[in-house]
Amino acid sequence: MMAPAATALGFELRVLAEAEDVSAVAAVAKAPVGDYKDLDHLLEFSRGLDVLTFDHEHVPTDHLRALIDAGVNVHPGPDALVNAQDKLVMRAAIDRLELPNPRWAAVDDVDALVAFGDDAGWPVVLKTPRGGYDGKGVRVIASAGDAAASADWFESMSPLLAEAKVEFSRELSAMVARTPDGECRAWPVVHTIQVDGVCDEVIAPALEIPLEVAAAAEDAAVRIANELGVTGVMAVEMFETPGVGSGFLINELAMRPHNTGHWTQDGSVTSQFEQHLRAILNLPLGATDLLGPVVVMKNFLGGANQNLYSAYPAALATEPAAKVHSYGKAVRPGRKIGHVNLVGGSTADVDSVRQRAGAVAAIIRDGRPQAAAPETTGETE
Ligand SMILES: Nc1ncnc2c1ncn2[C@@H]1O[C@H](COP(=O)(O)OP(=O)(O)O)[C@@H](O)[C@H]1O
Ligand SMILES: [Mg+2]
Repeated sequence: MMAPAATALGFELRVLAEAEDVSAVAAVAKAPVGDYKDLDHLLEFSRGLDVLTFDHEHVPTDHLRALIDAGVNVHPGPDALVNAQDKLVMRAAIDRLELPNPRWAAVDDVDALVAFGDDAGWPVVLKTPRGGYDGKGVRVIASAGDAAASADWFESMSPLLAEAKVEFSRELSAMVARTPDGECRAWPVVHTIQVDGVCDEVIAPALEIPLEVAAAAEDAAVRIANELGVTGVMAVEMFETPGVGSGFLINELAMRPHNTGHWTQDGSVTSQFEQHLRAILNLPLGATDLLGPVVVMKNFLGGANQNLYSAYPAALATEPAAKVHSYGKAVRPGRKIGHVNLVGGSTADVDSVRQRAGAVAAIIRDGRPQAAAPETTGETE
C-alpha cells in the first residue's frame, strides 16, 4: 500500500520479501526474497538504499543496530522501535513520560500473576511482550482460579505483561508522523472497533469526543513521538475512559503505517503511506486534514468467498463512492485481506456511512449476493 505513494513521488520502493508469493512482490519492481531475521540478508538488501524502513515491527533490534553501524539510514531507529516491539519496554516508557497507563506489572510466573490480579483486581489481561498482533498474544484471565491455565505461556516467554482489564467506552487511535529533524504532524484522533482482538472498523474523526480529551490524546502522541525519537508514522492505541483521569489510557504503540490509519488513503489530504515516506526521507510533511466530515474504514477478513473478483460487480455497484483496497492475499478464514473506505457528507450520516461501507465489505467477503428468486406465478409458457 506504500507503493502508489512512492510511485507518485517518483521514488523506487524495494521490498525484502519473505517469499515469492507474498502480496508486496506484485506491487513493486524489485522484491528480493530474504529473511528479515538474518543479518546477512539485511545487509545485502540495504546496499545502496537511501533509507530503510519496515511494514512490521519484528526485525531484531540488534540487527538494526548492526545495520546502522554499517552506515544504513534506518527509520524508525532501534531505540524508538523497541517501544513498539516490546510491550514491557513501552509500558515503562509511558510511565517515564508520566502519560496515562493502565495498572501493569511484569510477571515472572503464575504466582506473580495471581498476586497482581489480587491487588489490581480481576479480570487481568495477560500479554506476551513481543511478537503479538491481532490479539494473538493477548489473554483475558477472569480470576485467580484461571491463572494456572497460562503456565504454558510462562514456559515459552518470561516475564509477561499483566494489565488491569480496562473498562473503556471505546478504543481510540492517535496517529502522528515525525521527521528526523523533528517536524511532527497529527491526524485527528479516530474511533477504532476491534472484534476478537482484530481491528474491524475505524471512524474518523472519533465523534462526540470531548475537545479536551481529543487534544490531550493528540498531545500525548506528539510527546511520545518527540521524546522517544520516533521517525515515520506512529499509531498510539488508546482506551477512552470518560470521567476517569485524563479521559484515556494508552494501550500500545505501532511505529509504521497502521490499520487504524488506512482511512487516510481516501479520507485525508495526505495518506499515512505518503506521510511515512516523507517522514523517513526527512521531507516536509503533508497536510492531515480530512476530505469530508466523516470517514469510515471497514476491514474484510477471509470468509466464504474464495474468488474476490467474482463479487466485484455486485460490491462496486452497491456503493459507487466506496474505495476498495484488496491486498492480493490468499483467502483464509479470519485473515485480513482488504478494506473499504467511504467518505460521508455529514457526521449526522455516520450510521448510514458505516452501513454502506459494511455492505460493500460483506459482499466481497461472502460472495455475490444471491439473486432474488424469480416470483413463481404457477403459469407456464
Ligand atoms: N488492558 C486491557 N483492558 C481491556 N482490553 C484490552 C486491554 N489490553 C488489550 N485489550 C483488548 O485487546 C486488544 C488487543 O490488545 P493489544 O495489546 O492491542 O494487542 P495486539 O498487539 O494484538 O494489537 C485491544 O485492542 C483491546 O480490545
Ligand atoms: Mg493493538
